[in-house]
Formats: sequence, structure tokens, C-alpha cells
Amino acid sequence: MHLVVSTPDAAETAQMAAALRAALPRFDLQATVGEWQEGLPADPRADYGIGWKPSPDFFPAHPNLKAFFNAGAGLDHLLNNPAMTGRLPGDLPIIRLEDAGMGQQMSDYCRHQVLDWMYGFSRYRSAQARGAWVDWDEAQALTRSQMTIGVLGLGVLGRRVAQDFAGDGFTVLGHARQVRAIEGVRFVPRLGDFLAQSRVLILLVPSTASTHHLLRAETLALLPRGAFLINIARGALVNEGDLVAALDQGHLAGACLDVFGQEPLPPGHRFWQHPKVRVTPHISGPTLLQPAVEQMLGKLARLRQGLPVSGLADRSAP
Ligand code: GLV
Repeated sequence: MHLVVSTPDAAETAQMAAALRAALPRFDLQATVGEWQEGLPADPRADYGIGWKPSPDFFPAHPNLKAFFNAGAGLDHLLNNPAMTGRLPGDLPIIRLEDAGMGQQMSDYCRHQVLDWMYGFSRYRSAQARGAWVDWDEAQALTRSQMTIGVLGLGVLGRRVAQDFAGDGFTVLGHARQVRAIEGVRFVPRLGDFLAQSRVLILLVPSTASTHHLLRAETLALLPRGAFLINIARGALVNEGDLVAALDQGHLAGACLDVFGQEPLPPGHRFWQHPKVRVTPHISGPTLLQPAVEQMLGKLARLRQGLPVSGLADRSAP
């Protein structure tokens, strides 16, 4: 069996390939592991592809793949990417990473942001910068019961974030295309009803043709006045101009954005200096190499035994 690894960065590819080689014996897998970058020759020996954001040429260069293991949660770079059209075979099984340590990081990220807003820590940060001692202000204080958390998207990661907030005693609402029963989380079937009750909206839906600009003027307007937005999914879910308008008009109290329509966020973009926007550079849920490798090889071992694996992309979904 021959595995081929590809990412946009040769050093990262080499690191992943080395981790795979070292872990193979633990899964009783005998395989050689190659590395591929744009410009290298085609390799018809490759049985399985593994990696993140491979170049569209990766697939024609490896015509005999039996599956591709995506070393991340999002599949938009493969399935919602015009450059892949005619290159990524329509019947190639794609297996995404499921949590593998991302859920904890994303949950911590969201909890950090929510608690920071709730207790108004930015006020004390700016007071310290001015050397000012400001008193606690009851009028500005928010309570847990005012911070109803709405999690949009209840896949592996959304479920984890929702469960953690529920475990912390917050009121948590969930919405997704399919009804999901999660303990402590109230599923709200209509998007409009869900948005209208979400004081904090956390986006964890995939970026597909049907979720493009899901948050735009009309849907942002459905959120309660004073709502906060946390986007840790993909920038394409939000119409950025409409978001700035909703913040400037005072309808939204703040936005914490980890993902953007264009990454890196271009210099001079409104978000950099906007007083109500917190920008982080797509760090809310990085792939952790070791758990990712373990999970992918565990699934590969199952595939080789003819057993079902979870995390298989639904290629028919819009
Ligand atoms: C990161 O953005 C991922 O999709 O894993």
C-alpha cells in the first residue's frame, strides 16, 4: 500500500508524512508514505491520499486513489471549490477529521469570548491602558441568563461547543438542517426563531453553496438587539459589509471573527480597527498533528478490513 501526503507547505507535508510513518506499525499497517507538491510527477502507485488543501492537480496526478483523508474538518476547499471541478473524481470517498482535539480548542475559544463579553473585561483593558481605575458598573453587567447561546450547526464540533456551554449552565439553543437531540440543548427547527432568541450566535456550519452569506442584512436583523456573533467556521457564511453595518447601527454589540472571506485578512480591512470586532487569525481549531494522524490511520485500518468508517463526506449534499 502506498500513501501520498500533500499540503500547501512542503515542511508541513514532510512533518505529517514522518508522523504517519512512525505511527503505521501501531495500526498493523504496512505502507510506504510519499510526499507530493505541485510540479512533482504523477504517481499512479498511490492508493490513499492524505492531507490538507491539496492543489487541484493532486487528484489527476494520483488517478488510482481509493480514498482521500482530509486532515481538517472543513471540506469546502475540496467540495465547494470551482478549481476542483473536473479534477476531484466525483466518486472518490473523502473522509474528514472528526474532532481530533479541535472540539476542545473551539469550545475554549468560544467560552473565553463569551465570558469576556459577559464580564466586560474589554472595559478594564482599556481602563488599564489609560491608567484609570473604573468601578464595576451594574448597568453594563450581563448575566448568564441574558447570554442565551445559539449554536448554528450541530455536527461533531457544534455539538461539543453546545454541550460544553450547557454544562456550564447557559441556556443553549441549537439549529441545523437535520433535527439533532443533544442533552441540555433546545433544538429550534426554524432558523428565524432560532436567530431571534440567540443573544450569542456561534457559527459552526460548513461553507457550501447553500450556506454562502447565510448571515446577511435580513438574517442579522433577526438577532436580538445587542447580540454577539462568533464565527469559527468559514468567512463565506457572513456578508462582511452587512455585518459592519449591523455593528455600526448598534444592532449587534460585537463580533469575534476567526475566519474571513479573504485570508489573511487584507491590511486596511474595516475589521482590523473596528471597535466592536475582535479578529483572530484562523486559530480557533487548528489540526493537532498527533491525534489527527492517529484518527486517520485508525480509519484507514478499518477501511482495509472492510469496516465502515465515520466522517465520510456526503457528496450529494447541496
Ligand atoms: C480548519 O479550518 C478546518 O476545517 O479543519
